[in-house]
Amino acid sequence: MLQCLILELEMVFSWLNLLAKFGFSNITGIDYSSSAIQLSGSIIEKEGLSNIKLKVEDFLNLSTKLSGFHLCIDKGTFDAISLNPDNAIEKRKQYVKSLSGALNVKGFFLITSCNWTKEELLDEFSEGFELFEELPTPTFSFGGRSGNSVTALVFQKT
Ligand SMILES: C[S@@+](CC[C@H](N)C(=O)[O-])C[C@H]1O[C@@H](n2cnc3c(N)ncnc32)[C@H](O)[C@@H]1O
Repeated sequence: MLQCLILELEMVFSWLNLLAKFGFSNITGIDYSSSAIQLSGSIIEKEGLSNIKLKVEDFLNLSTKLSGFHLCIDKGTFDAISLNPDNAIEKRKQYVKSLSGALNVKGFFLITSCNWTKEELLDEFSEGFELFEELPTPTFSFGGRSGNSVTALVFQKT
């Protein structure tokens, strides 16, 4: 049974069809905010979705029960953790540790970031992860240079 850990609940509903198509039947969504989990729970109930479990969990202090995942998806949580004014460097390191503990070897990690460039993310996840694919995102040009407003990368745990 393919397992997926989702760190970005607002978008989870748009992921469900795609995940089902690829055979993911065991999907867990986490957030450390109980109101985010409550809101997601009420949407899940309204939509009649049964194959997703929701848990209030701090990803930086993740229960060891949350392991063995084939895929972890994040949009915005790594960014939020990075912006924490209290020891963000240490928290980013802990994020990579938690991610490593949650994923199977060869498991995939899909991150969408509005704060970090591709090169910066490659550096952040250089220990224990390798780039599998860069996903296309909108580009813009300014002052004769072009860049991306969002970075979306797929890493694979080594
Ligand atoms: C910027 S929001 C992203 C929300 C949504 N994915 C989006 O793209 O609009 C970051 C989310 O990460 C959650 N979060 C931040 N730190 C966390 C942690 N250590 N563990 C679990 N969730 C966390 C916040 O509660 C928030 O819901």
